[in-house]
Amino acid sequence: DWSMSSFVENTIKEMREKIGDAQVVLGLSGGIDSNVVAVLLHKAIGKRLHCIFVDNGLLRMHEREEVIDFLGEHFDLNVKCVDAARLFLDKLKGVDDPEKKRKLIGYTFIDVFNEEAQALKNVKFLAQGTLYPDVIESESFKGPSAVIKSHHNVGGLPEHMDLKLVEPLRELFKDEVRKVATELGLPEHITWRQPFPGPGLAIRILGEVTDERLEILRQADRIVQHELHATGWYRKMWQGFAVLLPLKTVGVMGDDRTYEHVIALRLVDSIDAMTADWSRLPNDILARMSNRIINEVKGVNRVVLDISSKPPATIEWE
Ligand code: XMP
Repeated sequence: DWSMSSFVENTIKEMREKIGDAQVVLGLSGGIDSNVVAVLLHKAIGKRLHCIFVDNGLLRMHEREEVIDFLGEHFDLNVKCVDAARLFLDKLKGVDDPEKKRKLIGYTFIDVFNEEAQALKNVKFLAQGTLYPDVIESESFKGPSAVIKSHHNVGGLPEHMDLKLVEPLRELFKDEVRKVATELGLPEHITWRQPFPGPGLAIRILGEVTDERLEILRQADRIVQHELHATGWYRKMWQGFAVLLPLKTVGVMGDDRTYEHVIALRLVDSIDAMTADWSRLPNDILARMSNRIINEVKGVNRVVLDISSKPPATIEWE
């Protein structure tokens, strides 16, 4: 693709000029955006790029191992894994407001980063995989509506932050990032990985984030991911995931009444996340997800399907 190869070439050149001989830190999430930024910057400045993977305790099952193993095996990148799970989860105690969760996670993320960056010498830049839709949704002054959500990875750097931002994907939409990834030779399971939000499972647990609720959501989500891959729907869909609702409902098991959690399935089609529609998945696949979640995840006795489009709903529930 001509336009993508010139994007890659120009971006590498631009980054080299902008960064000079400084060191750069990058938050690696394992998603396609930060992977593309990592490979682009690695091409531009080599080992002066320092990737930091923060385990914030809000990741999906086995995510940490998958990201670190992959990068270790396939790229010659500087990658450090920081275990900050307890720090994030302690801060989230008692917090149930969606915007508070997002801000808290965003600031904590930046704090962890700044600390890591200070341990390195001559770090002047923080690289991020910000995309165009993140930029416009966060710039409230540009639209008639107020800020939709404070994306944890856009703006709002604290005063004491002494790093400048490098955001090479700032003008791209997701489908363009996938083209760049292909151009860079990234493997399909990265290129076609569904988006996962920076604040992680915290914004898919409505209400307070606790260890117990995280465990329930992780297990339910794993079943959804498994069924999407097994049926080939993973690639056909923008995103498919589970959400844990902040309520319990009555059910029956054998002769006993149960009173347990509800999982919502959010399965959407989209081109660029600006608009989305719920995926018309075959009923037998939905039935299988529901049966498996209720039978296999302790503490869940009901599964519901989200059939709202964006707008007016959003893809995530918080
Ligand atoms: P919404 O819920 O706004 O989501 O319709 C649009 C897309 O963005 C993802 N998303 C995020 N990604 N940091 C991210 O990196 C965030 O804070 C964030 N919030 C939402 C969401 O998963 C969907 O793909």
